[in-house]
Amino acid sequence: MHRDIERVLFSEDAIRARVTELGASITEDLSGQDVVLLALLKGSVIFFADLMRSVSSQIRVDFAWVSSYGDRTESRGTVDLKVFPDEDLGGKTVVVVDDILDTGRTLAAVVERLRQDQGVAAVKTCVLLDKAARRVIDLGADYVGFEVDDVFVVGYGLDHADRYRNLPYIGVLKADCYGGDEAS
Ligand code: XMP
Repeated sequence: MHRDIERVLFSEDAIRARVTELGASITEDLSGQDVVLLALLKGSVIFFADLMRSVSSQIRVDFAWVSSYGDRTESRGTVDLKVFPDEDLGGKTVVVVDDILDTGRTLAAVVERLRQDQGVAAVKTCVLLDKAARRVIDLGADYVGFEVDDVFVVGYGLDHADRYRNLPYIGVLKADCYGGDEAS
């Protein structure tokens, strides 16, 4: 285990099994629809790569780059949609895929942006982790991998200051690794 990790929450095996289940649910629920899986960068990148291979129906993929955290462990409260797909999403069922649902601001901003696009047939949401205790916007995801308590987690794409994304498991970051970095 990495020296900055206090404990492992979800092992590689546990993640693999759960992502397989999520992919099967998406396949079953959305079969026959024109589906675009939309990854929110950067955090969802590893989850996304595994999830898309667990969906067995025909899908397309696209990417959006959204930022709300920077190097901090507290949300700034504003969501910056840096890059958004410019393909025509008319008639598509868009499944927004993110690593973690925390305050809900990120997912709410992306969903709202997609709903402004009149032609989108449906918007669904899929997150690997749900930290419900921290929600400030009343929003749930259609597909959730695991519930997590109010702890700062890293690995499997999740970062702190852009580090730890390449850990193959999800673990709790030791408090002294971000203690001086909290939002005031
Ligand atoms: P909101 O608050 O908009 O947050 O729902 C979603 C984004 O916040 C980041 N986030 C975390 N990143 N460990 C992380 O590495 C965490 O415990 C954590 N909580 C929130 C994440 O980027 C997500 O997309």
